[in-house]
Amino acid sequence: MVDNFDEIERLGRLSKNAQDVLIRVTPDVRGETHEKISTGQADSKFGFSMGDAPAAIERIRSIEGLALRGLHAHIGSQLLELEPFRREVAEIATLGDYPVWDLGGGLGVAYTEEQASPPAIEEYVGTLVRAAREHGMGGSGKRLLIEPGRALVANAGVTLYTVESVKRNVSTWVAVDGGMSDNLRPMLYGAAYEAHVADRSSAA
Ligand SMILES: Cc1ncc(COP(=O)(O)O)c(C=O)c1O
Repeated sequence: MVDNFDEIERLGRLSKNAQDVLIRVTPDVRGETHEKISTGQADSKFGFSMGDAPAAIERIRSIEGLALRGLHAHIGSQLLELEPFRREVAEIATLGDYPVWDLGGGLGVAYTEEQASPPAIEEYVGTLVRAAREHGMGGSGKRLLIEPGRALVANAGVTLYTVESVKRNVSTWVAVDGGMSDNLRPMLYGAAYEAHVADRSSAA
């Protein structure tokens, strides 16, 4: 997976036999999520812009040691709507016909009871597959890849803390034996979690 022109040159110097590569493109699609985990908009630090992608594709094709297999995009994380994924597919499809299309991850999960429920996995995959077929990415000999992360694992674990002290002033403060050292996401991404008292989990 190459992300920029320097990587193309570096990989080209290192590769002796046609090395399969994908290039990451930034489709200029902004989904509704925290800005720090949004990666599909034009000024994202990841991937080639839609403007630079044709030159990157041409450069890879001119290097004997590299074999361009397809395109990759990942427009961001914690996306609770499917429309941005449809736009992602429509955009990257304009860059040509390839045997491999990697549409990244991004499907969100509900971390708290107040958060909207995310689309079901079947709905998400169905949307991607339909959009891919509509834009010529389907058919024999083609591979469609996705890279879901949190949608697969976020609900598979909990973090268990021990309450060390409780202080009541204007608010009630509960100090636990953990914090930024084990989970930076609340501070970096404004992420919210649901807390329960583990040995009183059935209590309100
Ligand atoms: C390139 C790429 N693919 C997939 C993922 C997984 O994302 P998510 O957990 O939102 O599905 C990430 C997350 O940062 C990523 O950067």
